[in-house]
This record gives sequence, structure tokens and C-alpha cells, in this order.
Amino acid sequence: MQRGTFGAGPRKEFAKTSRPGEFKLEPFTPQKSCSGFQCAVAEYNDYLVNDALRSMHDHIALTWLLTERSTGKIAAYMSLIMDAIKLSFTEKELHNLNYPFKTIPAMKIAKLAVDRSFSEKYKGIGTFMIDSAEHLAWACNTAYCAARFLTVDADIEHDEGVLAFYEKNGFILNSELFNKNRKTICMRKDLYC
Ligand SMILES: CC(C)(COP(=O)(O)OP(=O)(O)OC[C@H]1O[C@@H](n2cnc3c(N)ncnc32)[C@H](O)[C@@H]1OP(=O)(O)O)[C@@H](O)C(=O)NCCC(=O)NCCS
Repeated sequence: MQRGTFGAGPRKEFAKTSRPGEFKLEPFTPQKSCSGFQCAVAEYNDYLVNDALRSMHDHIALTWLLTERSTGKIAAYMSLIMDAIKLSFTEKELHNLNYPFKTIPAMKIAKLAVDRSFSEKYKGIGTFMIDSAEHLAWACNTAYCAARFLTVDADIEHDEGVLAFYEKNGFILNSELFNKNRKTICMRKDLYC
């Protein structure tokens, strides 16, 4: 995907210029139509239309939609799942986690995508979605179940730039860098430092 090819003039900062109540973040439901959603990667559009609800029904992934209230259009979506990451001794030291366990609990952003028409208008929707995932993880930590990290498998197959996007949002590379297929890069963000 090409950055900087937006044609509609300077983009507005989503967090600063969207009015309170203009957008809502809510779990996906069967009543919600998502057929118009178009991000830069076809696979992510197909997932929302064909797999997201089934994955929710089977408790494989829970999808959240950012919807524009006035039009009902989906500006972005993310799918969240529970996770556990293996950290090396040095990585555990870095996060001050002096525990003998091999894995540390986490919440993973399994999918994240922003609709192109909203990307053309606003900068910062992806960042807003990550901030929202953090808030959900904190809420979960307080009330239900522990997760120390937010994790992501950055999809460099479709766009190498996503690494920079996640780094700008505070994610760092895991020492176990690649998944088996080497098409994604494993990253984490400490929710508490
Ligand atoms: C990747 C994606 C979610 C980013 O959303 P976004 O709303 O454009 O991101 P933001 O506006 O919050 O960007 C935050 C910062 O990251 C940078 N950034 C965002 N996407 C980038 C990319 N693809 N390449 C390089 N830098 C990127 C922005 O320029 C911005 O930097 P700045 O603060 O220095 O100006 C969106 O482009 C998308 O949906 N892509 C297609 C699906 C996809 O690849 N999802 C990720 C799968 S792991």
C-alpha cells in the first residue's frame, strides 16, 4: 500500500477533530451491515464480511466496529483475542517480570483495518483503535482476567509500513520475531510502562 497518496487534501486528526458521539465503538452484531467496508487489503475486507461473525459465534475472535453514527458506515474494525507470549530471560528483565513462567498473558489485536474513505478524511483512526484495545485490556485486567501485553502479528506481507505504524504506537519487536510462515512479525506493547 502506498502512503501519502490521499487525494482529498490534508487529513484531520481523528482524536482532535471528531466530535464527541460522532463515532461509536461497539461489538459486531449480525444486524450490522459491513458490505461497504474497504481497506487497502482485500483479505481484511473479506474477513469482515465472511468470517468475523462466525469467529465471534465460535469464540475465536471478538470483533469491534468503529461506526460513524450519522451514516452507519464502518470506519474501522479490530478483532481481539487472548494470547500468551514467550519471552526470553532478557525480555522478562526488560519488563521487570521476574517469574519462572515461559509465557506471559496478553491480549492480541488479531485484525485491524481502517476504511479507505475514512483514512482519506482522518489521520489517527488506527492509533485510536490501538488506544481503544488498550482500554479494553485495562478494563479486563481490573475486572476479569490478566493480560500484561498487547500483542500483534504485523502483516508485512501486504505492507511493510505497518511495522512503523505499530512502532509509532509503542510496540516493540519480540525476540521470537517471525511466525512460521515468516509473513508476519511478532510485536508487543507493555500495558503497564
Ligand atoms: C495500518 C492501518 C491500520 C493504519 O491506520 P491509520 O489510521 O492510517 O494509522 P494512523 O493514522 O493512526 O497512523 C499513525 C502513524 O503511523 C503511520 N502509518 C500508518 N500506517 C502506515 C503504513 N502503512 N506505513 C507507514 N507508516 C504508517 C502514520 O503515518 C502515522 O505516523 P505519524 O504519527 O508520524 O504521522 C491502516 O492503514 C489499514 O487499515 N491498513 C490496511 C490493513 C492492514 O494492513 N492492517 C494491519 C494488519 S497487521
